[in-house]
Amino acid sequence: IKRIAVFTSGGDAPGMNAAVRAVVRTGAYNNLHVFGIKRGYEGMIDCDLVRLEVGDVGNIMHRGGTFLKTARSQRFMTPEGRRTAYEALKAYDIDGLIAIGGNGTFTGAMVFSQEYDIPIVGVPGTIDNDLYGSDFTIGFDTAVNTAIEAVDKIRDTADSHNRLFFVEVMGRNSGFIALNTAIGSGAASVMIPEKDATLEDLVDVLKMGARRKKLFSVVIVAEGNHFGGASEIAKQVKELFDFYDTKVTIIGHLQRGGSPTALDRVLASRLGFSAVEGLLEGQAGVMAGLVNSKIKFTPFEEAISKNRKPDNQLIRMAEILAI
Ligand code: F6P
Repeated sequence: IKRIAVFTSGGDAPGMNAAVRAVVRTGAYNNLHVFGIKRGYEGMIDCDLVRLEVGDVGNIMHRGGTFLKTARSQRFMTPEGRRTAYEALKAYDIDGLIAIGGNGTFTGAMVFSQEYDIPIVGVPGTIDNDLYGSDFTIGFDTAVNTAIEAVDKIRDTADSHNRLFFVEVMGRNSGFIALNTAIGSGAASVMIPEKDATLEDLVDVLKMGARRKKLFSVVIVAEGNHFGGASEIAKQVKELFDFYDTKVTIIGHLQRGGSPTALDRVLASRLGFSAVEGLLEGQAGVMAGLVNSKIKFTPFEEAISKNRKPDNQLIRMAEILAI
């Protein structure tokens, strides 16, 4: 392998820049020519590649977003799109790829590596933390910290006004962000897709709080839970229990931005570095992940299809600590 290209794709995640920096510098150390592809698979199809030297990735470690830009590409889902992308890579003599992204990115990478003979190693970059084969994904820790900071502020006003707040966080179909935000912010309850709880159960928890003279409450709602978003849940709960003045906050894309935490910077550096070393050692069609603090390579197919759920013990603990 002599010439590799790196790209970020799907939703951006804080720490992606640190991962690109690690790829470029590990590549340079190993005498590789490293290219950056702009806007993920879209830029691959449009042949939008730039040469990345060591100095080009200086002063980006602490920045949120991705300086390579990102996109969710419809065109790459078609065989014609992928052929055009392959031809673009061949025009640049690229013989290895590093894909930084989440579920959609690795689905594309898996199909592409089945169709064309080009080794790809993935780096898990998504705030959702929903990939099998890595205990943490890049951006998750920052997103949870952002959400907790927001809930801390909401607590102040909720307390002053004796209000019940429903705070909606991201995570697509997974409850990792919500559960960790709930634990870290001391929320009264959390609604996540992985938990078997009804709205009546939630109301019971709130009633219990009211009985012990709890004058305000915060409930964290995962956007992907079974009962709808925070506004919908707030409406339904109000019909069952009208004790509190109720408000809704949707944190939304705030969770996607901002300077990455130390954990995300170190994780991104380790995974970017390991992805390049893996590629040089012959890894292909796999995602570099961190499992029990050790680097592990997992086939794309498993990374995207094996259901990763928050630990049941953590869900139970969140309930016990919230009483
Ligand atoms: O996958 C990351 C994520 O932020 C999800 O948590 C969320 O559901 C989705 O992306 C939002 O996507 P978009 O930025 O395209 O609206």
